[in-house]
Amino acid sequence: TATDLQSILKFTEQLARTAGKLILEGSKAIQSAPDSQADIGEKKNAVDLVTEYDVRVEELVKSTIKEKYPDFQFVGEESYAAGSRNPLTDEPTFCVDPIDGTTNFVHGFPFVCISLGLIYKRRPVLGVIYNPFLDHLYTGIKGQGSFLTRGASAPVKLPLSSPKPLPSLSQAIIAVEWGADRTASTIDSKSRSFGRLAGDPEQGVAGGKMAHSLRSMGCAALNFAMVAQGGLDVYWEIGCWPWDVSAGIVIAEEAGGLVSGAHAAFEATASSDAFGDVTEEILTGRKYVVVRAIAGNPGET
Ligand code: IPD
Repeated sequence: TATDLQSILKFTEQLARTAGKLILEGSKAIQSAPDSQADIGEKKNAVDLVTEYDVRVEELVKSTIKEKYPDFQFVGEESYAAGSRNPLTDEPTFCVDPIDGTTNFVHGFPFVCISLGLIYKRRPVLGVIYNPFLDHLYTGIKGQGSFLTRGASAPVKLPLSSPKPLPSLSQAIIAVEWGADRTASTIDSKSRSFGRLAGDPEQGVAGGKMAHSLRSMGCAALNFAMVAQGGLDVYWEIGCWPWDVSAGIVIAEEAGGLVSGAHAAFEATASSDAFGDVTEEILTGRKYVVVRAIAGNPGET
């Protein structure tokens, strides 16, 4: 019920702030370590990073949830990487990225967050995204709006300002991400898409839209949050995992955003057909997010 969700939100906010302290502690330790590479591991390849803090934060979060909500299921980036891959059910399920933006975390680039989503009946219903470096807390409950709390200020409803209609992509600021898949075919497709978004059609860039600019924040959840806030018009990415998007979907949608594609991350039978493209049509009138959430499909826009 709505009241249950309110009380889960209070718990989740507190958990995000506690985890945030450990993230800051980890950042200090990593930045001051004499051999900065010592505690940094690789997952799929040399740019898919993991630190001991990703694992420690996830353990903290998992055990705290287990204590408070023993019947809830848990999906976490690091548990998944370690082989814990229970299929998603209709039960309430916390879906957690302990450190989203691990590369930023390792480099001391302060766009890092914990992303805590609650999924019920396979749909995201509650989200908390917390950037401890900036002390920005984004929250959302399906049907109850989304909010930003900065420092000790009172929560402010999102978006911060009403979206102006965008007549075309050419007036948009768009977040794109390079992701961790650096194979030639993926990088080629992505680069072509980026070129089409940023290129000047009059200078002969095929299909160029010449967006105001492209941004790459290096953190999927904070891209969702920034669209919800109104600082980005579009976030387009391929290859997100459920823990990258579960909290962001609720926060962006509750701020009036349109999320296309990311829901498919929660469908057992996701197919590439389910993914929306960036089109002029869906840009008109709304701030929105487009996330194309399928791993292994480079795609283009
Ligand atoms: C990644 C970051 C990155 C995005 C990837 C995510 P991680 O999460 O958000 O910016 O491009 O899609 O998986 O590995 O830092 O938790």
